[in-house]
Amino acid sequence: MARRRQIYEGKAKILYEGPEPGTLIQYFKDDATAFNAQKKGTISGKGVLNNRISEHVFTLLGNIGVPTHFLRRLNMREQLIRQVEIVPIEVIVRNVAAGSMSKRLGIEEGTQLPRTIIEYCLKDDALGDPLVTDEHILCFGWAAQEELHDIADLAIRVNDFLSGLFAGVGIKLVDFKLEFGRIWDNDFSRIILADEISPDNCRLWDMASGEKLDKDRFRRDLGGEVEAYQEVARRLGLLPEGA
Ligand code: C5P
Repeated sequence: MARRRQIYEGKAKILYEGPEPGTLIQYFKDDATAFNAQKKGTISGKGVLNNRISEHVFTLLGNIGVPTHFLRRLNMREQLIRQVEIVPIEVIVRNVAAGSMSKRLGIEEGTQLPRTIIEYCLKDDALGDPLVTDEHILCFGWAAQEELHDIADLAIRVNDFLSGLFAGVGIKLVDFKLEFGRIWDNDFSRIILADEISPDNCRLWDMASGEKLDKDRFRRDLGGEVEAYQEVARRLGLLPEGA
């Protein structure tokens, strides 16, 4: 069988050439990394769960008019996506203080923020994805003013929708990371949502118990990673009852 051409391999996903021009196949691995890949491991079954959860979330976001790269799920580990030119910025949306922000600013984890915060980090492993401001983004041309406006607007829409979606199944959306890409049409480009949305890039806390249902279980050696990801999928109605 002819092998497909690999376009890119990241920490948790591989991108292959798609069946039609302008498409790619996004393959979800079981590999997990944390702290800029200083900690590495495998969470058996994670890729299958993230593929399913991300398909669900991107489909719902598409239904409310958020433009995304998602086209359709192909199988257990793969989805067909639109090829985009990735904006080299990680967009982090925070509703509750946690993780790097708690550490950086000395704000206790779990503190509800009086307003949602958007942070930007430069996607650069060698530099450890440093926090940057919109001034840096515009100065170095990583995104144009209008693009940054669209990115912030979409990030807030995604946050509003996902906060409600997860609250409806008893989960607090603490924070999450988004990535965006450009689609070109002749000389014009527009911004669409790319990458994935899954427990790998969200903090999800059970509202009743405070239990972490996300990648912090791996980062902090809490164990039970797959069970936590399965619980998210189950609550979203993506696993058969009793699975
Ligand atoms: O580590 P930090 O607190 O900055 O992470 C904020 C949110 O962004 C978390 O939900 C985390 O899972 C996500 N994130 C990510 N990829 C990164 C950095 C953060 O998915 N490289």
